[in-house]
Amino acid sequence: MQKIVIAIDGYSGCGKSSTAKAVAKNLGYTYIDSGAMYRAATLYFLQQRVDLSDIDTINKALKHLEISFHTNTRTGLQETYLNGENVEQKIRSMEVSDFVSEVSKIKEVRRELVYQQQQLGRSKGVVMDGRDIGTVVFPDAELKVFMTADLEIRAKRRQKELIDNGQEVTLEEIIRNLDERDKVDSTRAESPLVRAEDAVDVDTSYLDFDDQVKKIMELANERI
Ligand code: C5P
Repeated sequence: MQKIVIAIDGYSGCGKSSTAKAVAKNLGYTYIDSGAMYRAATLYFLQQRVDLSDIDTINKALKHLEISFHTNTRTGLQETYLNGENVEQKIRSMEVSDFVSEVSKIKEVRRELVYQQQQLGRSKGVVMDGRDIGTVVFPDAELKVFMTADLEIRAKRRQKELIDNGQEVTLEEIIRNLDERDKVDSTRAESPLVRAEDAVDVDTSYLDFDDQVKKIMELANERI
């Protein structure tokens, strides 16, 4: 059976990651969370107090940035590592969420991370979610999905996730963060979030999780 590339793009907090993870598991594919890579780069820049207007320092920092994914043997979940340290929790903090879209605007950061993402997907059999996967990272992906959902519904889902992880955040704070990130991500000069012309739209506002996965599995099976 031929292996394909599945690109899932869309606004922040639409359920791209959880859906992509489940689809990858069903197909026996590798799941790659490209947002986690931008988040890990952001955490590193925050830790190193990198001045975002200083391109030389950014380039130096990028050379020391090693991002990898490993499966937690206890939970079976994939976790993000930055220079050998498990940063899965840290990269989901509001501090990183508030800063990540500024880092993601930088051409040099995108060039490096897009290259790494293309390497990770070069043997196909991957499900990757993000903002520019169907347009820039894998413009030839066999299946491109563009996910959307109502802002308030997205914020409530995200709040539940954060509370389950022990982070107390108000709904207003999350709405502000999602809305701000969508604006910056959609209007930046470097590979903005846009719907690929050949993407299939999936609005998850009123779809439950199993239906989201089912819908994408159907689309994938038509192409395999
Ligand atoms: O997917 P997630 O919401 O974790 O992504 C965090 C941020 O990383 C996004 O708001 C966006 O600024 C950036 N990002 C990006 N391109 C991608 C994936 C994420 O610019 N392919």
